[in-house]
Amino acid sequence: MRLELRGLVKAFADGTRGLDGASLAIETPSFVALSGGNGSGKSLLIRHALGLEEADSGEILVDDRPLSRCLAEARRRIALVFQEPEHQILGVTVREDAEFGPRAAGERPESYAPRVDAALEAAGLSGYGPRLCAGLSGGEKRRLAVASALVSEPELIVLDEPFNGLDWAGASDLLEALMRLRASGVGVLVVTHDLEKCLAHADRLVVMDAGRVVRDGSPAELWDELPSLGLRRVEGGVGRLGDMSWLRAVEAAAG
Ligand SMILES: Nc1ncnc2c1ncn2[C@@H]1O[C@H](COP(=O)(O)OP(=O)(O)OP(=O)(O)O)[C@@H](O)[C@H]1O
Ligand SMILES: [Mg+2]
Repeated sequence: MRLELRGLVKAFADGTRGLDGASLAIETPSFVALSGGNGSGKSLLIRHALGLEEADSGEILVDDRPLSRCLAEARRRIALVFQEPEHQILGVTVREDAEFGPRAAGERPESYAPRVDAALEAAGLSGYGPRLCAGLSGGEKRRLAVASALVSEPELIVLDEPFNGLDWAGASDLLEALMRLRASGVGVLVVTHDLEKCLAHADRLVVMDAGRVVRDGSPAELWDELPSLGLRRVEGGVGRLGDMSWLRAVEAAAG
């Protein structure tokens, strides 16, 4: 699928211009890292992409159709994991939360159960099904938000700061799950300050500043500019960026 945001402008009543002509196109499969300073417009941009906010001007197209005309369909095809995972927990137990979407859509348990199992496993939550959501740690809640987003088998998954609060093992498990998704043909858009966690695996790096997309290119292309964009460079250097052998191995395994 192709998601295109064209010249989005969003001003708030207090005069803040949250978005000031932001444009971005995402095609699947791909792994795109979206970065930029606090308040640069990253969360706002992706909220617009899901139709959760309405722009003052600009266009949002899903496979060349205006988002407003295919909103329900777009929300099935594109999953969003919010910056604050608490905001999207809807179930009492982990399994109930993961099942919430398909149950609300009237799907039968025998049809969604395998997808729920697979999503919990992909997010590192196998065996957590009966646990109470309220008792999960911050990192576990984040993984649950990822699992619940995966249950609908989206074509594009958008994650806002998914590595926040995850320990090293949790972050690398999540990254691996995202890479598997990418290899299986899904689009992954990760909003993150933690470029060192994912830049080596990203096909593209997009940088926002003051409500606009100011850079869009391969990590290798943007490597020299990262410090001047206020972004830390990845330990190991650009050479590591070129090493995509892990991806070919994952792709081969996925057939
Ligand atoms: N409801 C709102 N009312 C007023 N201003 C808003 C509102 N929502 C967002 N903004 C402003 O829009 C700008 C972009 O916000 P956004 O949340 O997209 O930043 P961000 O890039 O995600 O930052 P962070 O890295 O801190 O998460 C900020 O200046 C923010 O204060
Ligand atoms: Mg944000």
